Amino acid sequence: MNQINSFYINPKISFGENSLLSLKNFGFTKVCIATDKFMVESRLINKVTDILDNNNIDYHIFDEITPDPSTEIIEKGLSHIVNLKPHALIAVGGGSVIDAAKAIMYFCIQLKKNFIEEDKIDKPYFIAIPTTAGTGSEVTNFSVITDANTKNKFPLTNDIMLPDEAILDPILTVSVPKSITASTAMDVLTHGIESYISTNSNIFSQMYALKSIELIRLNLLKCFKDLHNMKYRNNLQIASCMAGISFNSSGLGITHSIAHGLGSSFHLPHGLCNAIVLPYIIEFNGRDAKTRECYVKILEIMGASNVSSSESAAILKEVIISLNKALEIPLNLRSLDINKKQFDAIVPNLAQTAYKDICTSTNPVSASINDLDSIIRRLY
Ligand SMILES: [Fe+2]
Repeated sequence: MNQINSFYINPKISFGENSLLSLKNFGFTKVCIATDKFMVESRLINKVTDILDNNNIDYHIFDEITPDPSTEIIEKGLSHIVNLKPHALIAVGGGSVIDAAKAIMYFCIQLKKNFIEEDKIDKPYFIAIPTTAGTGSEVTNFSVITDANTKNKFPLTNDIMLPDEAILDPILTVSVPKSITASTAMDVLTHGIESYISTNSNIFSQMYALKSIELIRLNLLKCFKDLHNMKYRNNLQIASCMAGISFNSSGLGITHSIAHGLGSSFHLPHGLCNAIVLPYIIEFNGRDAKTRECYVKILEIMGASNVSSSESAAILKEVIISLNKALEIPLNLRSLDINKKQFDAIVPNLAQTAYKDICTSTNPVSASINDLDSIIRRLY
């Protein structure tokens, strides 16, 4: 029997300049905002709270979310929901904030299911407002949480964590600095490429992947030179969102498997790790004929037509390296002041972690621990 394919799209997405104003149309009178200290201290959160103030909507701000959110933070957030009983939970921030809010929603629904007096907790409406254009977390159904005691990271995957609504207003990303704009956008491009060539891709996920790649091609370098341009900023948010819709269905590949370990071992931004790893994985996956055909299509979208299948891997690899250079992204780990001895010592561990990573299962070429080990060594 053939495998049954499925693809679904959630949440409702509001986008474009002033899309934050849609917050006044929900009819809520009491909401909880989940965010981090930076959003409050930089007053960026005021872009949201001003709208709530002007429309007499009561709000409580839970601003204790930190990068790599822990179970302890999730518990604190959950107790705010249980005590305040807000009509909506509004997550305003980058990937970590939205991931934490998803986990709060997950445990809120578990609590409600298992609670003796179910009426005591209502499931709040869940709105995700990303402040970076990278993770696509606003449209995916998984989250990564760190155990407060063991420090181990564990993934949560469940459709109940999908936000009910995502709002992509460029006013919140316009002040993101140059280097973060570059690395988060390279995360988006990696999502687009890995999703397009994934063993689990389908006609719908590939359509979103290609469009996200095209939006990156048309807007990234322009945005890098004109950071305050709302149109470029919004198009990068849309690219991020579309890539998220795509990989939520298809999964990713070993660029991410390796980037996950590198990021946590050396405290490097996720997008930066992907940008450095991606050229090597394009080359590795280029040994597969079907993937090389996919590269031809990706290159066409990126403006390089008439490329033959046999040369597509080498050309796409060079395109990514050139893009990294144009975005002032280092090409190897040596340039990041990582100690060589320390790096060599950790490689076997990184290879093991990458091998077990969930993204490895959907890579188009199966990679052994030895394959991963030698790829990781080349990154230095
Ligand atoms: Fe990513």
